Amino acid sequence: MANEPYGEDFSAAYAGRWDGWVRLAWPLITPHLPAGGSRWLDLCCGSGTLLRMAGGLGYAATGVDRSRHQLATAARKAPGARLVEGDVARLALRETFDVVTCLFDSLNYLVGLADLDRALAGARRHLAAGGVFLFDVKTADGFRRERPRAYRDSDRVTMFEPRFDEKRKVQTLLVTGFVREGELFRRFEEEHVQRGYEHAFLARRLDRAGFVHTAMDFDTGGEIVAGSGRLFFVCRPR
Ligand SMILES: C[S@@+](CC[C@H](N)C(=O)[O-])C[C@H]1O[C@@H](n2cnc3c(N)ncnc32)[C@H](O)[C@@H]1O
Repeated sequence: MANEPYGEDFSAAYAGRWDGWVRLAWPLITPHLPAGGSRWLDLCCGSGTLLRMAGGLGYAATGVDRSRHQLATAARKAPGARLVEGDVARLALRETFDVVTCLFDSLNYLVGLADLDRALAGARRHLAAGGVFLFDVKTADGFRRERPRAYRDSDRVTMFEPRFDEKRKVQTLLVTGFVREGELFRRFEEEHVQRGYEHAFLARRLDRAGFVHTAMDFDTGGEIVAGSGRLFFVCRPR
C-alpha cells in the first residue's frame, strides 16, 4: 500500500535532487516583483529553496506546505522563514503579502476542482494591493510525455512509474524508493496524483477568483504553443 506523498523518505530524496529546480523559475519571477515589496508567501514551499532566495532579496518569507517532512528540510534550508503546516486549499493566515508564489507543478496536486478554486481564492485573499501571484502548472501534454525512470544517488534509488488517465487528465505516479541501510536497502512507496491544467481552463478560474493575468510557456518564456508542457502565470488583483 503506497503512502501519502512527501513522506520522510521521499522528502529526503527530494531535498537531495529536486529542490534546486525552482532556480529555473527565477528568471521568470524576478521581472515581476513589485518595487518596495517586503512580504513573500510561498504556497507548497517544499524544502524551502525559494524561501531562502526570497529572504536573500530582503523579503520576510512565509512558506506553507502540508508535508511536515518537507517543512523540516525548509527549516534547515531557510532558517529565517516562517513555516506553516497546512493545506493551501484551506489557507487562512489573516494577512496579506506583496508576492505569492506556487511553483514546480504544485497546483497540479489539487486534483479536485473545488480545491483548486479554493487555493486560487486563497492566493487572491492573501495578496496585498499592488501585489503579484506567480505560479506554474504542468499541462496534460507535459504529463503525457513522462516515461518511467529511475534516479540513482549514493544512498538511494528512486523510481517513478507514471500512468496518465486521458479521460480525467490525471497522472498517478507510483514512486518506489530503496534507501541504503548498511548492506541492505529499505523500500518505500508513495502515490502522487496530479491533474494536467490548460491555459483556457485556468484563465476562467483566475478571472472568477479576481485576478487579471498573463501566461507564457515556462521553457521559452514566450507564447504558449500546442504541446507546451509547463505554463507560467503572472496574476494581479483585478
Ligand atoms: C513538487 S513539490 C514543489 C515544492 C517547491 N514549491 C519547489 O519548487 O521545490 C510539491 C509540494 O507541494 C506540496 N503540496 C501538495 N499539495 C499540497 C496542498 N494541498 N497544500 C499544501 N502543500 C501541498 C507537497 O507537500 C510538496 O512539498
